[in-house]
Amino acid sequence: MAGRYKSDLKWSDVTPQGDYMNRRQLMAGAGALALGSIAGPAMASLGATKTNYGSDLEPNSIEDITSYNNFYEFGTGKDDPAANAGRLTTDPWSIKVDGMVNNAGTYSFDDLTSGMTLEERIYRFRCVEAWSMVVPWVGFELADLLKRVGVQPSAKYVAFETLVRPEEMIGQKRRTLEWPYREGLRLDEAMHPLTIMATGLYDEPMPKQNGAPIRLVVPWKYGFKSIKSIVRISLTDKQPATSWNMTNGREYGFYSNVNPTVDHPRWSQSTERKIGGGLFAKRVPTLMFNGYEREVSSLYSGMDLQSNF
Ligand code: MTE
Repeated sequence: MAGRYKSDLKWSDVTPQGDYMNRRQLMAGAGALALGSIAGPAMASLGATKTNYGSDLEPNSIEDITSYNNFYEFGTGKDDPAANAGRLTTDPWSIKVDGMVNNAGTYSFDDLTSGMTLEERIYRFRCVEAWSMVVPWVGFELADLLKRVGVQPSAKYVAFETLVRPEEMIGQKRRTLEWPYREGLRLDEAMHPLTIMATGLYDEPMPKQNGAPIRLVVPWKYGFKSIKSIVRISLTDKQPATSWNMTNGREYGFYSNVNPTVDHPRWSQSTERKIGGGLFAKRVPTLMFNGYEREVSSLYSGMDLQSNF
């Protein structure tokens, strides 16, 4: 497939998707070490710790996850990122951390991520366009990164920016959005244990079309909050400007929590189409906070979620 992540050995090359599930279940019981020695090179990827997050969910295939994307820096079509992201240079990669932090600076990808505990997190992923997938991300908690850089007590929000490099990100030659792509979270949302910085999926480094080398994943919010290919993280005391809200504030709020009772002005959010289900698959009901209500609803207690959409 054009533009797919190219590593020496792909999980999908050695493991049919059905086997992946079996292996995952096996690993949960048998222990990764013992199986690693049997399975050989197939295990020599990110080596993320398996957790119980989403063990009840059936992940989409790597083909679904890497061929149906939104990444406007590479074009607005669903297949543009897979076709065009291959030319993005992701090594070296640096991330500027600034604002209300004790250890501000520009860090290399390795410096910022080394020593972090990589975990597999199988999460539901719900796009504001009313389609959804299940993705086996690999990443670490954003809270761990924030602890490393030392958030100052005055900080209330975290702002993120994506790379601007129109020579490689050919979608940036047009002003489909105001570049850089920007996103933001309230500090308590950023510190929530479900919020991760993902550096891979299916136990491989992040495919370029999915936001290599590092992206945000906030599973209870619409997918556009999960900003890709991050080069800047800023701590601030003001609610940051965010790309889709800047483009159309009537349609896209700052919070953008998945909420089946608040429709998009142009379509219903009460149901979703599961990618990979085939053309005639029945739509399924969308869950409050994308199914993470028990974990996150306390973040919003007392808030009017109709006006704070
Ligand atoms: N991040 C950047 N930098 N640029 C984008 O266009 N699209 C967002 C989000 N992050 C986007 C982005 C949207 S609308 C969605 S639904 C998800 O990425 C898609 O992630 P995926 O392609 O890995 O499924």
